[in-house]
Amino acid sequence: MHNEISIISDTDIGERIATELNANLIKPNIRLFEDGESKIAIPKIQTKTCMVIQSLYPPIDRHLVQVLMTIKKCNEYGIKDIYAIIPYLAYSRQDKEFLDGELISAKFIAELFESVGTTKLITIDIHSKLALSYFRIDAINISAIPFLTEFISSNINLHNPIVVSPDIGGSKRAEDFAKCLNTISFSLKKKRDRNTGKISMDDTIELNIKDRDILIIDDIISTGNSIIKAYDIIKTHKPRKVYVVCTHALLTGEALKRLKELDVEFISTNSIPNEFAKVDISTIITKSLHRIKIQDT
Ligand code: R5P
Repeated sequence: MHNEISIISDTDIGERIATELNANLIKPNIRLFEDGESKIAIPKIQTKTCMVIQSLYPPIDRHLVQVLMTIKKCNEYGIKDIYAIIPYLAYSRQDKEFLDGELISAKFIAELFESVGTTKLITIDIHSKLALSYFRIDAINISAIPFLTEFISSNINLHNPIVVSPDIGGSKRAEDFAKCLNTISFSLKKKRDRNTGKISMDDTIELNIKDRDILIIDDIISTGNSIIKAYDIIKTHKPRKVYVVCTHALLTGEALKRLKELDVEFISTNSIPNEFAKVDISTIITKSLHRIKIQDT
């Protein structure tokens, strides 16, 4: 059934998904000009379903334009079902008008995908349900939590673990994560100054975590500031060992260097290529594609 599908991607994840689905893999021809413009070419495809696969990590806007151009070309070829598989969907944190006059970027991104002819969007651990709600096309969010916790259960011998979210916004994620590990969770209190972007964390919280294993979990690690602040608070309460787990390891700027200075073990997916990637997102996607039934008949 799946050889009716074309995967269009120039990524390792795309290659693996094509192999797992026994689908036709097409690498788009991407030319990058001196001024930064991209030019996309894909051969004429005659298939009912195509899947364009690309995470939107830096250079984010370039990847975004390239993926939109690719989808547009598939649309011009008259392909009926065009899936955008975007493991890391950038701009999902910009899901509100936080300051007067701001564009809701997440809504704009949803409109862009729709405007080029995407019929279904699939992403992993989107930052907010609100961002997902802006899509008027079918948009599916897959949770990486069962896969991350499965990796942890099979590979790490945890001692009396407890799961921590660096902020209240992530408390549901931490609860779900803890449930999979048969334990409990709590959230620290992070505040972000919307003008400067600076964050602060309440360090007066009383914690009884001495000699316990701590898993700090977040959807995204970008500058690393949230994790480092959470780690500093946790560390003063003398845990046994600290693990940092995330789905999307953006690791911008000096993040990697700063995080390596912490006494922690990192676990992430490969939604964004990075050296801590231990959980393969292509397996998560193919398993979910089988569940949501690919329309290629
Ligand atoms: C924000 O609420 C997200 O869930 C992450 O906590 C945040 O994006 C991490 O960013 P950074 O690593 O820059 O602190």
